[in-house]
Amino acid sequence: MAVNRPKPLVAGNWKMNGLKAAKKELASLVKGVAGAKSKPGCDIMICPPATILSLCSDTVKGSGIKLGGQDCHAEASGAHTGDLSAEMLKNAGARACIVGHSERRTDHCESSLEVKLKAEAAHRAGLMAIICLGETADERSSGKTIKIVGQQLKASLAESANHKNTVIAYEPVWAIGTGNTPTVADIAKVHGYIRKRLIALLGDETGAKTRILYGGSVKPSNAKELMDIDNVNGALVGGASLKAKDFLGIITAY
Ligand code: 13P
Repeated sequence: MAVNRPKPLVAGNWKMNGLKAAKKELASLVKGVAGAKSKPGCDIMICPPATILSLCSDTVKGSGIKLGGQDCHAEASGAHTGDLSAEMLKNAGARACIVGHSERRTDHCESSLEVKLKAEAAHRAGLMAIICLGETADERSSGKTIKIVGQQLKASLAESANHKNTVIAYEPVWAIGTGNTPTVADIAKVHGYIRKRLIALLGDETGAKTRILYGGSVKPSNAKELMDIDNVNGALVGGASLKAKDFLGIITAY
C-alpha cells in the first residue's frame, strides 16, 4: 500500500433487511474475520437497520468491526415521528451514518442540502458521515456523470468535513443491485475527479486523505479488480454484505 493511501473501508449496507436472527450472520462474520489467515488490511463496518443496532453492537464487541446507521434526521431530538437522530444511532452503538443514499434521495426526495445537514448532524453526534453520490442511468447516457457528481459533492459536503469524520461513496444509481458496474476506466475517471474536487474543497492534505468508496454490485468476484483502481479506498456493499461468506470474500480483496 502506498504511504499516503488512506486505510480502506469496506462497509456493508444491509438496507431494509435484517431481523433479530441476522445476529447469527454477523456472528459468522466476526468469526470469519477473527479466523482469517492474515489481519484484514481494511476497516470493516456493517450498517444494519436501526432496530437491531443495539443487538449487533453486542455481537461485534471486541471484534474491531464497527457499526453504522443508514440515515439520520438533521435535528438532535424533537417532534419528528418515525425519524431517528444521529445521537440516537450513536447511543445504540453506531460509529458512522450513511447519508444521501440514492434510495433516500429518490424515495424521500432528499436534496443535497438536506444531505449536508444530515452529515453535519452526524458530526455533531460524533459519527462519521458516509456521503453517497451518483448519477442515474439517464444522466449517464446524456454524458452528465461528472457534472452531477460534482454538484452533489459540493452541495452535500458538511462545513465540518475532514478526512476523519467524512467518507464519500460513489454509487452510480444504475449499478446498484443490477449486477452491472462501470468500467475500470470510468470508475478511475469519476474517483479521480472526486479526489480533485475534495482537494479543492478541503485542502491538499485533508482532500488527499479522505476516503472515496465505490458502491454498486460489488461482489467477491469483482472486488479485487474494483478495489485496485486508483482513488478507490474501499467499498459500500449492499446485497453481498448480507451473507458473511460473501462479505468476507470482498474484505479479503485487501
Ligand atoms: P448493491 O451492492 O446491492 O448493488 O448495493 C449497493 C448499495 O446501494 C450500497 O449502499
